[in-house]
Amino acid sequence: MVMKHRNIILALMLLPLTAMATEVKSPNGNIVLNFTVEDGRPTYSMSYKGKEVVRPSHLGLELSKDKHASMGMDERDLMTGFTLDKEETSEFDETWQPVWGETRDIRNHYHEYVATLSQQWRTAPPKARDGVRLQPRLHRRTILIRFRVYDDGIGFRYEFPQQPELNYFLIQEERSEFAMAGDHKAWWLPGDYDTQEQETQESRLSEIRGRFQEAVNWGNSSVAVFSPTGVQTSLQMKSDDGLYINIHEAACLDYATMHLELVDGQTKAMTTKLEGNTNAYTPNPKASDYELPQPFTFVSHLTPDATGLKGAMQTPCETPWRTVMVSDDARDMLSSNLILNLNEPCALDDTSWIHPTKYCGVWWEMIVGRGNWHYTNDFPSVKLDQIDWNKVKPNGTHKANNENVKRYIDFAAKNGLDEVLVEGWNVGWEDWANMWKRDVFDFVTPYPDFDIKMLNDYAHSKGVKLLMHHETSSSTQNYERHMEKAFQLMNKYGYDAVKTGYVGDIIPRGDHHYSQSMNNHYLYVVKEAAKHHIMVNAHEATRPTGICRTYPNLVGNESARGTEYEAFGGSRPDHTCILPFTRLQGGPMDYTPGIFVTKLSEWSNNPSWARITLAGSLALYLTMYSPLQMAADLPENYEKFDDAFQFIRDVACDWDESIYLEAEPADYITVARKAKKTDNWFIGGKCDENGHKSTIKLDFLDKGKKYDCTIYADAKDAHYETNPQAYTITKKVVKAGDVLKLTEAPGGGFAVSLIAK
Ligand code: NOJ
Ligand code: CA
Repeated sequence: MVMKHRNIILALMLLPLTAMATEVKSPNGNIVLNFTVEDGRPTYSMSYKGKEVVRPSHLGLELSKDKHASMGMDERDLMTGFTLDKEETSEFDETWQPVWGETRDIRNHYHEYVATLSQQWRTAPPKARDGVRLQPRLHRRTILIRFRVYDDGIGFRYEFPQQPELNYFLIQEERSEFAMAGDHKAWWLPGDYDTQEQETQESRLSEIRGRFQEAVNWGNSSVAVFSPTGVQTSLQMKSDDGLYINIHEAACLDYATMHLELVDGQTKAMTTKLEGNTNAYTPNPKASDYELPQPFTFVSHLTPDATGLKGAMQTPCETPWRTVMVSDDARDMLSSNLILNLNEPCALDDTSWIHPTKYCGVWWEMIVGRGNWHYTNDFPSVKLDQIDWNKVKPNGTHKANNENVKRYIDFAAKNGLDEVLVEGWNVGWEDWANMWKRDVFDFVTPYPDFDIKMLNDYAHSKGVKLLMHHETSSSTQNYERHMEKAFQLMNKYGYDAVKTGYVGDIIPRGDHHYSQSMNNHYLYVVKEAAKHHIMVNAHEATRPTGICRTYPNLVGNESARGTEYEAFGGSRPDHTCILPFTRLQGGPMDYTPGIFVTKLSEWSNNPSWARITLAGSLALYLTMYSPLQMAADLPENYEKFDDAFQFIRDVACDWDESIYLEAEPADYITVARKAKKTDNWFIGGKCDENGHKSTIKLDFLDKGKKYDCTIYADAKDAHYETNPQAYTITKKVVKAGDVLKLTEAPGGGFAVSLIAK
């Protein structure tokens, strides 16, 4: 491990440095950050190889006023009136090893710049006493803005030291600006405080407002949009001069998730100018009193909690990192580790119990509608403590039953899958969703036809584990109350992973999925789970920001539109060629790939169909990186295509090396990965509805070695709509330097295994 930390104090100046921009270059010089304080406002800009990426943009936060005046909260905005007191730069270079990941080693190399800023203001003097006029009160406080400049982007955050004038404050809004240099193409999701399961929109920035209504016209049980130009992060863009630009955040801890609000030609909010500072005392500005930035500027927009405010802070504290990644090569967007690098190192002493996992599950048949999570149809409403479950009439369609679960365990054991997820095992599914019901599940009582001891013993006897499911229905207090007992039950029976879920609006009512309080809830679950050596895969939770580096038992999240939507009307074929550029930036997704029988009506009454070819489904095990990979289809569907299923048996889910060979957002992604602690490689290529041709030079293989190569490809006439199951399997022996020419069908892909001889 290389470790280097150097402090080069460039300047240590106590005088205000207004208007003189400080320049900080990335280690290879391609990225240049400029920082200055202009008219009292912290201002930064950024370029890449001489091209503008972020034009001069202001930084600051509005604090909440009015409501809490009498409570001793600090209320003056952190927006204007700053002087630059001190500047420090340093270099950091370290290589670290993640517990699991796309590569064995990750280099964290950046130039850091810290600006120490202060505000001073006066307030009225205390009343004159004994004829003596007292002086106005002078106040002073300090914040820091820390930048890290990498070769693949920048991160910055605000830091708030503890001080007499800054102890407790409530955030009205964070006002970090990202002024784009043009009307870029963007792949965006409508900004929403509660969901990001929409399909991605592709448009120019100027077209977002016009497309917004169409984008929010979809179905989900918890939706809260806030502005017709609000978008989510991670936001991928491409400029006309070929720059790929991505805005997201890293290490969102004890803080609300950030959205972006685009200022376009029609934006009217934030328009009033700051009232003149003409009187003797500095006025405390009103919220949204600041000048409107130029069009194509994104302004941060945090998720509110039930009170409408965005954050309750106690110093010393800091915000998450705001990140801007940039390159002229789309592949760099996918191989970047900037977000992981901006997170803190692993906080767990012992990680030996954390393991990459392939699993199948009693799941798809319920999602598709051939069976149910609930056990009985006899109750219009369930009160958990008032029902003797042994006396109720079973509906006969409950899928988490002993016989069915054993079938999945047998399938997992036969095919080398590590775990079996079972949903609907616990009482409460009769009225679980959207009822504003607090006491919805207890997470410890199985339905009568799910013998928890027998099934775990049976699984263990075959070298398989069961994977726990805790759907919380977003009733978070209920979950926190039952969690300790629920984890103890998991320990007792030998579960080591839980899939959690947050369907529906948050209970207590009024809160949102991505608020500071909810982000604290998700982290609390991860930390408590770690104490019990339990890995967590949270669905519908907030979008990840790389905290899996610090808490590597967070092995997965959904937080986007997963395979389940193929049963709810389908997702566009380019969807999985966008997600790695956007949702996956912050951490792996439990996408639940592997649908072989794409026309669901072949085995159910569901008319929906998956927009992917069978070979394309195999590709997702490579292109959608995750240490947790599901084989989501039914065992009987896999048995029909056992020769293709061989790839899922073989493919690894933890890697020493990953090389992105080709990439273009929404078009195609091709990646080669070397399986951890082996000489074996796997390659996956996935494309959109237009098909794609790949020429792959095997120059990354070890010289002098031979490999058994198996190619799973779309057949000539394959097509995601008309002929999805047409595939070919070709075997040959290859060596370093050989070339593979592969054709991906519309909505298709390929998968290759290279096993060292
Ligand atoms: C939504 C999740 O994404 C899905 O995987 C799960 O089956 C249902 N909620 C029920 O918990
Ligand atoms: Ca979901």
